[in-house]
Amino acid sequence: MREWWRTGVVYQVYPRSFADSDGDGVGDLRGLAARLDHLEWLGVDAIWLNPCFPSPNADWGYDVADYTAVDAELGGAEALEELLAEAGALGISVLLDLVPNHTSDRHAWFLDARSSRDARHRDWYVWADGRDGGPPNNWLSVFGGPAWTYDEPTGQWYLHNFLPEQPDLNWWNEEVREAFDGILRHWFDRGVAGFRIDVAHAIVKDAELRDNPPADESDLPRTRLFGQREVYNMNRPEVHDVFRRWRALAAGYDPPRVFIGETWVFELDRLAEFYGDGGDELHLAFNIPFLLSDLAAEPLAEIVAETETALQPDAWPVWTLSNHDVIRFPTRWCADHPARIRLALMLLLTLRGTPVLYYGDELGMPQARLARSDLRDPVGLRHWPQNPGRDGARTPMAWSEEPGAGFTEPDAEPWLPIADAHACNVADQRGDSLSALALTRDLIALRRELDDLATGSYERLGSPAGTWMWRRGEGTVVALNPTDGEHELEVAGTIRVCTDRARDGDRVAGRLQLHAWEGAVVAPD
Ligand code: GLC
Repeated sequence: MREWWRTGVVYQVYPRSFADSDGDGVGDLRGLAARLDHLEWLGVDAIWLNPCFPSPNADWGYDVADYTAVDAELGGAEALEELLAEAGALGISVLLDLVPNHTSDRHAWFLDARSSRDARHRDWYVWADGRDGGPPNNWLSVFGGPAWTYDEPTGQWYLHNFLPEQPDLNWWNEEVREAFDGILRHWFDRGVAGFRIDVAHAIVKDAELRDNPPADESDLPRTRLFGQREVYNMNRPEVHDVFRRWRALAAGYDPPRVFIGETWVFELDRLAEFYGDGGDELHLAFNIPFLLSDLAAEPLAEIVAETETALQPDAWPVWTLSNHDVIRFPTRWCADHPARIRLALMLLLTLRGTPVLYYGDELGMPQARLARSDLRDPVGLRHWPQNPGRDGARTPMAWSEEPGAGFTEPDAEPWLPIADAHACNVADQRGDSLSALALTRDLIALRRELDDLATGSYERLGSPAGTWMWRRGEGTVVALNPTDGEHELEVAGTIRVCTDRARDGDRVAGRLQLHAWEGAVVAPD
């Protein structure tokens, strides 16, 4: 039960935005390697890198043109090799991002597939004849419009659950499965510790390409807005065969390689299925209901309780507050309110499960507000202003308040604007023992020190309405007050870390008074 991916903390790096080593305004792997000291100091065990494979960047790396190479703009294969060696020397594992649902339309497989109906790779993608002069069925793209594009030269339609530049692979084809076995081995052989799996729930489609049923009033608002239930274009049960196969492959390595699924599902018993039976599928499956909840005791405690019930005893939760697809948590959950941000960080780092921090979370870095002319994300470019897209969560890391923010050269033009680096940066917060950064680091250190926090069970304890208190393991208690009022909670011990750092070390004799948006970790004496 002490595998690193259970006890450790994972840190997500968006490589284009973390650190730029060559002054072209785009972050790269050598820039990241030069900043590993920050991650070592923070105490993280692993980094997950958003895709760094060659890509035309229609969807910023999520349109892969070659799965066994590294994008030249990010430094190429040598830079990744160096990064793996340097991170390894510091005891930091490196996870890459695998995109098995679709390739780029410029991938050699797709270029071949669309060259003729008899092409060698034709069946590696999902092709179908049209229906009544239109697409083969009613499936819609996650990014808007039909999920099918007509290919004039060969007279058929191809499927893309995302952009037309991201044709979906046909996972019913055994050669596709073999190709991905080879891709996994390629990176595992080079020391990659595992993969985050992009849209893990989506990769297998209905073999008969049946129409999705329309949404009705019994569906979640997001499904109603989308107009149909995505039960045939993705979310097929046969996906589990693929994960069982990958898990067996990963288990053959020493140490076993690890998978974290981007499992965009809203029913927690369905989430549990991605862990397989007795741990024979994904090691970790992202909890989207938690990510998209509000920062309030009841909805979050309910999701945690349901997750605890749904997962098999050996399955391990994973929690995250932000990522490259959603609004950063300080803005979305906390309305940029410092006390709320601190409470949220304490919550993330003390639940039973693996916390995944998104770069900048440790600073409480807010969502950047961008102008239409700044946008690079296809979602924002298509749907502005109703949906400004995801760029505001992807702006450069603020290392210091100097021009370029320590991210790039002062006179370089960053690929996305640097947000307000004066308000929030690593250099200032490193010098401030009361900062969000210091709190994050101290909570990570406490997880290492207390077995209760690393591996202990979770049990909710009684506490006043609006507050949330739980015990981890033998006796460590986490008490949170996510309300605007003051509350008294029943707990005894010593405060190991409080969001109000002046209270660290205080003895609690049985009653703990928590101010609005205050939280504390209390260990038995
Ligand atoms: C995932 C990624 C997202 C990407 C999409 C298509 O949801 O996290 O960034 O746009 O898949 O690959």
